[in-house]
Amino acid sequence: MSTMKQWIVEGKDKDFDGLVYQDAPVPRVGESEVLVKLQAVSLNYRDLVIPKGKYLLPCNFPIVPASDGAGEVVEVGSNVTEFKKGDKVATLFNQGHQYGEIDIPATHTSLGGEINGALREYGVFNEKGLVKAARNLTPQENSTLSCAALTSWNALYGLKPLKPGQTVLVQGTGGVSIFGLQFAKAAGATVIATTSSDQKGEKLKKLGADHVINYKTDPNWGETARKLTPDSVGVDHIIEVGGPGTMRQSFNCIKYEGVISVIGFLAGVKAQDQPAILDTLSNLCIVRGVYVGSKALMQEMIRAIEANDIHPVVDEKVFTLAQARKAYEYMWAQKHFGKLTIKIN
Ligand SMILES: NC(=O)c1ccc[n+]([C@@H]2O[C@H](COP(=O)([O-])OP(=O)(O)OC[C@H]3O[C@@H](n4cnc5c(N)ncnc54)[C@H](OP(=O)(O)O)[C@@H]3O)[C@@H](O)[C@H]2O)c1
Repeated sequence: MSTMKQWIVEGKDKDFDGLVYQDAPVPRVGESEVLVKLQAVSLNYRDLVIPKGKYLLPCNFPIVPASDGAGEVVEVGSNVTEFKKGDKVATLFNQGHQYGEIDIPATHTSLGGEINGALREYGVFNEKGLVKAARNLTPQENSTLSCAALTSWNALYGLKPLKPGQTVLVQGTGGVSIFGLQFAKAAGATVIATTSSDQKGEKLKKLGADHVINYKTDPNWGETARKLTPDSVGVDHIIEVGGPGTMRQSFNCIKYEGVISVIGFLAGVKAQDQPAILDTLSNLCIVRGVYVGSKALMQEMIRAIEANDIHPVVDEKVFTLAQARKAYEYMWAQKHFGKLTIKIN
């Protein structure tokens, strides 16, 4: 077990050609570190935009990509107290974000951005940067929790906790949004989901979405969503993954004192008709930027996943480690539904 296979991203100017598959030594464990045999990885939109040079946050190149991994502990350092050999674990996105509010140093500890990530056969992680995996999930399912799931959980529970009977709006059928749908249904909320595809809309309904709106055929979906809420009061939580291109519609359906969690920019970083700061006053709403979440929130989320036996929606197409570049291309072409996974061991 002295060498292993891993992927690296060489830099931000070669697109997916900058993804290189190589041999590397199996890393050694330090006193507070854990050696994990990685079993599965899931990709996020962020993983795609890093080699495309479109990621907004700093990265250290070359870097082993992917924040989201799950596997089994094979060795622990002498000071490790939380894990033992054989434990099933999942990675924490920002390794330094342990609990409470995020601080500046913790924002510089992201896996696959500033610290080597999970797209490799073995990885060492500080014990603070791992959590015990959900006991009801396979490694493949556990590999979907670090980024998309935790971000959605933070949106719904990190500031103003969702209550049963409230309405949640999720945009599109990507990883973050589908977790938002599943968490909201488990909480007894009503879910309005948008998608560009009627076919995907049917899948959303099967997952429990109460209402589905096609945002391509109904560009004023914000107003439509508002009308779907009792007395047209608007929705309580919006998982805003579209960014500037969808924000106007989100403002059109947010309830007074509702929370718009600004998470991503799938609809582009520029838009002509964007709400201005005073729109928060006229709509009396909270607009909150969310950056994944802490270890404490992830552990809380995993308890809820176990208690409600929530299973992440994993695309039926699964790639091997050697095929990872193909997985990037498949996801970039938006062929996936839910989380796209790569099986390692
Ligand atoms: N802030 C954070 O901490 C954080 C964490 C995780 C992710 N993110 C960001 O959140 C966003 C979503 O991530 P993800 O991993 O869930 O992405 P993803 O899985 O790649 O989502 C892709 C889906 O988004 C939908 N979509 C694309 N354009 C859209 C639009 N204009 N309006 C509504 N939906 C649209 C499409 O759904 P349909 O095919 O159904 O139309 C598409 O299939 C990304 O921008 C990502 O960078 C941020």
